[in-house]
Amino acid sequence: MYDLKKLRAEFPILGKCVYLDSASTSQTPKRSVEAMVEYFYEYAANHGRGAHHLARRTTEKYEETRDLLGKFLEVPRENLVFTRNTTEAINMVARGLCWKKGDEVITTVLDHHSNMLPWMALRNQGVKVKVAPHKEGYITPESVAELITKKTKIVAVTWMPNILGTIQPIEAIAKIAHDAGIPFISDGAQAVGHIPIKTSFIDYLAIPGHKGLLGPQGTGALYMKDNESLSCSLHGGGMVEKVTLEEVDLLPPPAKYEPGTPNIPGVIGLGRAIELVNELTVPLIHSHELNLGKKMWDLISGIERVTVYSPKGSPVVSFNLEGWLPNALARELDDRAKICVRSGMHCAEPLARSLSNTGTVRASVGCYNDVEEVQIFADTLSEIAGQK
Ligand code: ALA
Repeated sequence: MYDLKKLRAEFPILGKCVYLDSASTSQTPKRSVEAMVEYFYEYAANHGRGAHHLARRTTEKYEETRDLLGKFLEVPRENLVFTRNTTEAINMVARGLCWKKGDEVITTVLDHHSNMLPWMALRNQGVKVKVAPHKEGYITPESVAELITKKTKIVAVTWMPNILGTIQPIEAIAKIAHDAGIPFISDGAQAVGHIPIKTSFIDYLAIPGHKGLLGPQGTGALYMKDNESLSCSLHGGGMVEKVTLEEVDLLPPPAKYEPGTPNIPGVIGLGRAIELVNELTVPLIHSHELNLGKKMWDLISGIERVTVYSPKGSPVVSFNLEGWLPNALARELDDRAKICVRSGMHCAEPLARSLSNTGTVRASVGCYNDVEEVQIFADTLSEIAGQK
């Protein structure tokens, strides 16, 4: 186990509240904030667009993060495109593939809107979206296989759904898709940085910068196994080799997918955060979060009138307390003990509604949480439960 006390000192906000909303967004470590301050104070300039020393340093630092992320995922740097978030990454794939009327997409009922709506938006081009059901929080390869036809263009499955936190059998599902000659995309929003992952069987992976990787908001990336497989969904400055009024020659990837001034400070901050994740190591982060998740599950599933929807051990614990609407309960937890949890539909409304028509409350842990925080949360919930 890593030194939790030392780690917590990297996140000054932790002593001021009980932060159990890391599935939504993580807290950002000091070193990452300091790197962003350093950028603004010492060398702020644009990326890839200047000969002067500030622009050169900015470009170097920004590209350093691409190297770090490539090493972290064990993929070539040229196959990583920076985005604002996982949503943007998945949209790039949905918009970058070449569609024709009658094409089909398979997604799942466990998926976040970010891996559902970009595909649903293609319905106006005559694309059919098929949704695989879950079985106790898991998508089975068989249920995906049943939906595959000759018209299936892509299979899109979350690695870990944000309401239940169950690790999906992604490799087996990808194999089903590949055996039928279909590419596979995974939404890695809740997985990257939280659990050990392999990328060898993935065609596209949506990567959040601001969750398990501990980077700032507004950062993310798309990994593409074939970095020429998409057409560009955005066009503009910074992506071209040469432009005449007749012709446009694009730069090679990843530059051609990153037009416009990117989130330079965010990406630089993300680099420092990835270094921290590397120091902690993902297997240790995973086992720490698993232990906290188990403890939380044990503590709150014993409280009368509490229904827990996530399986034991999940670092993402969704639940309801009878007699309370999720938002009211989340507010009460905050008012009583500054406990920050998410409530409502969690941007995964089909699944949330299937669990409870009013949505759920969701407590989620990060690498920096400790047992004491889990205990405070459970005690406060128990107090509330005892008063109605
Ligand atoms: N996807 C984020 C969540 O699950 C925002 O809360």
